[in-house]
Amino acid sequence: MNLMSLHRRQWMAASLGLLAPRASRAAAARIEILPEEPIGRISPDIYGHFTEHLGGCIYDGIWVGENSSIPNIGGIRKALVDNLKRIKPPVIRWPGGCFADSYNWRDGVGPRAARPRRTNFWANTEYVSKAPDGPYKYDPNHFGTNEFVRFCKLAGAEPYLAANLRSLKPLDFYEWIEYCNSPAGATTLADLRAAGGERNPFLVRFWGVGNESWGCGGNFTGDEYAIRRFVEWAPRFGVPLSFIASGPNVADYAWTRSFFSKLTEKSKSPLRTLYGAALHYYCGTTGKGDAVDFTADDWYALLSKATRMEELIRNHWQIMGEIDTEHHVKLIVDEWGAWHKTADIAPGYLFGYFPTLRDALVSGLTLDIFNRHADKVAMANAAQLVNNIHTSFIAHEDKFTVTPVFHVFEMYAAHQGGMSLRTEFLTPRLKPPSARGLASLSGSCSLHGARLVLSVVNADEKNAFETEIHVRGRRLSPISAAVLTSKDIHAHNSFDHPNALQPVEKKLAPAGDPYIYSFAPASVTRLEFDLT
Ligand code: AHR
Repeated sequence: MNLMSLHRRQWMAASLGLLAPRASRAAAARIEILPEEPIGRISPDIYGHFTEHLGGCIYDGIWVGENSSIPNIGGIRKALVDNLKRIKPPVIRWPGGCFADSYNWRDGVGPRAARPRRTNFWANTEYVSKAPDGPYKYDPNHFGTNEFVRFCKLAGAEPYLAANLRSLKPLDFYEWIEYCNSPAGATTLADLRAAGGERNPFLVRFWGVGNESWGCGGNFTGDEYAIRRFVEWAPRFGVPLSFIASGPNVADYAWTRSFFSKLTEKSKSPLRTLYGAALHYYCGTTGKGDAVDFTADDWYALLSKATRMEELIRNHWQIMGEIDTEHHVKLIVDEWGAWHKTADIAPGYLFGYFPTLRDALVSGLTLDIFNRHADKVAMANAAQLVNNIHTSFIAHEDKFTVTPVFHVFEMYAAHQGGMSLRTEFLTPRLKPPSARGLASLSGSCSLHGARLVLSVVNADEKNAFETEIHVRGRRLSPISAAVLTSKDIHAHNSFDHPNALQPVEKKLAPAGDPYIYSFAPASVTRLEFDLT
């Protein structure tokens, strides 16, 4: 065996928790799972996605057209559908983002060839304006409501439509609901839907009332963002509509407070009408802003910024609770992710780049936070699904790859629908100043009958942690491990190397109590146990 393959084997063993690589087994840690302290059921919708008419997300990413030589299902990229199903997407948000508040849904219905071309919201951004003309600049509207709902059905997801509150009126909103949900043959809009190939109502439940209404959605103050006209008299058609209000700019708590106060100034009944209030948080980037070229300090800085999500959830929840004392309205984190500099994947692919192992850890840290706050967060949507920002897929013409973010979604799908359990991590804080005291290990745990799923992120890029795992009052019988890691923190998949980074899965033998597992450096791990 040559040295290279010896090193590789050692690395694989370490990845599976069997051996500590690089530095010594630097520190011990302990995880204590508390089955008697359930937090709440993990809504599968926490594992949702977001798609916007932005860069290469819709055109080329999802929609290639029926006459394309790229394998497609009625115009929708087949490789995307096939791989998306693997991560069990519960819900997909569309058509924006900022695009939503400039979109007229009527442009995207009826015969495709007759639909109007419109200037895309993002056309004037520097990157897009310099690109040759294309659908990212002038939207042909070939992908509209019917196509989006069909895409959701193919993937097994529920549609979540974001309505235009900045430049359309409540009546347009009511009519979009009527177009989607009125019974077959009952209305002129139902006939229009049927003419587009969908006789049966779509029964769309999730409706966003504007997007980032504090900014691109109209620059409203919390007081001005008056949504009662939109939601209180909207037609139901027997569908239990779940309205989602725009949230504030990140930590603008005053906006949340003034919106909730204004909403309820006459009576508290609008709280019953509202399903959720949105929160958007992008942890941004660090250093040069490059997705792939970064330092160890950038690594720690970004992971630390990602964990700010927890403070945002706690604080907004507390403020919502000042008015919504029974917490009828849940938090909907309908945009989240790391956001690096655009890389040149293809002309006009604004905010497209290849996510790395670092972004996989951002995903693990964030999804674990949502799991730990299962009592507060009812839905979340990673931004965005394909060719954009914190993306799970990259596609261009006939080239396609899944990203490390995808792998984390696939690993964490095991949490969907489980009961989140309080779980304590006793673990050293990371020393580099850029880590700002971030815990080396963190994670979440869910219970599904007698099956326990534990996910753990080791943010330390150098050290493995040998960890005792206890479950209070019960015993653990280990079943399997899935580990996503690499000796290179910059590892990522590309069109030429689509499998450069993928999880390693392994069955685990029965073991003692406490169970000891070594979490590899720079890793996301999912362990499954039976509780006995
Ligand atoms: O996801 C990209 C943009 O980020 C969205 O359009 C907007 O809502 C947010 O600011």
